[in-house]
Amino acid sequence: MLQRFKLVLATLIATCSLLIANAQSKVAQESIQSKMQWFADAKLGIFIHYGIYAVNGINESWSFHNKEISYPDYMKQLNGFTASNYQPEYWASLIKASGARYAVITTKHHDGVALWPTKQNQLNVVEASPAKKDLIAPLFAALRKNNIKAGAYFSLLDWSHPDYPGFLKDSTRYKIKDQPERWNKFKTFLNGQLNELSKNYQPDLYWFDGDWEHSATDWNAEGIRESLLHDNPNTIINGRLQGYGDYETPEQNFPVTRPSFKWWELCMTTNNNWGYQQRDTAWKTPYEVISIFVDAVANGGNLLLDIGPKADGTIPKEQVNILTELGKWNQRNGDAIFDRLGGIPQGHFYGPTTLSKDSSTLYLFLQAKTSGPVMLKGLDSKIKSIEILGNQTKLPHKIVGKISWSAVPGLVYIDVPASKLDPYITVLKVQLEKPIKLYRGKGGL
Ligand code: GLC
Repeated sequence: MLQRFKLVLATLIATCSLLIANAQSKVAQESIQSKMQWFADAKLGIFIHYGIYAVNGINESWSFHNKEISYPDYMKQLNGFTASNYQPEYWASLIKASGARYAVITTKHHDGVALWPTKQNQLNVVEASPAKKDLIAPLFAALRKNNIKAGAYFSLLDWSHPDYPGFLKDSTRYKIKDQPERWNKFKTFLNGQLNELSKNYQPDLYWFDGDWEHSATDWNAEGIRESLLHDNPNTIINGRLQGYGDYETPEQNFPVTRPSFKWWELCMTTNNNWGYQQRDTAWKTPYEVISIFVDAVANGGNLLLDIGPKADGTIPKEQVNILTELGKWNQRNGDAIFDRLGGIPQGHFYGPTTLSKDSSTLYLFLQAKTSGPVMLKGLDSKIKSIEILGNQTKLPHKIVGKISWSAVPGLVYIDVPASKLDPYITVLKVQLEKPIKLYRGKGGL
């Protein structure tokens, strides 16, 4: 009897705790969902790699790590980092004009040079460079004035810190297991810096980097997440915190099939480097950037497009041009991008697509100046109207091959006049009578 009672009690306790756990994870999911909403709607962010590496125009941090330059010579760049033409209001207005809804700046790269007056050490541009000013606070203020969310890139690893194990590619200072107290000292420093960012700048988003050198346990990734969310429950954390982030960050490489992550962001340079490098002239054209942007959004993601200001704060003219052209395109076609959802599966239309949240508007992106009759397959919804975004030209359509006795929908042909094309990518807005229905069969009946 007692045995049975114990069993029933144990089952009851187990069921209750399962229910509680489920409820908790639901709450957690729901709150993540709501804090992620602005990010999902934003689609475009601007990444800013600003640092002393722009003085010589060399690889950010990696150049000394990989021994392309000696550490002392790398650090000499501090003397040339003037920020004399740093104009946060102009930066914010350029970002605004691009259509971006968030920006992420390198508060500290792997070289350990902080762009804010950290009190945890002296390696910051206020104390150690002629810039002599906080470069984070005025930018965050200008961004927020423009209703742009402000994100902080932060390198967890810090190759300059004397208590950080890693240094050059073939040398380390020590192993954590041999000197755990030294590692704890570094973590006190790291958490001190994060605490400053959190308390003084309240980032809307943390963009961690460099987590790969240590495990989640070593970093206490869970603790970092907890403490940042404790300060601001709505802050978003990127996926580079050893499993404790909110979204994925594929870098430079474009997904071919649609990623299964709920939230993801492609981070990409405008030439081949993150920071300013005079010799790098491999600029992407505005068309290329726009088509990559469209591709990311159609696949349910965001684009975080990088700019690398010069040491004095000037933004290279090629990047100004890319942001401006992207912004003009967004002015004409942003209705198909912002606050929308990734599009329909591949196969229905030979190009990227997006959907309105109620899925009763389908947007078709015509690449490479496509004109003439474009085709849409397997659309099992009635079309109300079709127009070209940006110039409101209404377009007729024709249904071809609809067999009266078959449930398979006919093909939709839309004739797009060459004279009405966007200089980059034209968008057709297809208004449906009801939320979209698609036929995805193999033909036949
Ligand atoms: C990489 C690099 C870094 C760069 C970052 C941006 O992780 O280490 O230099 O800042 O990507 O995504």
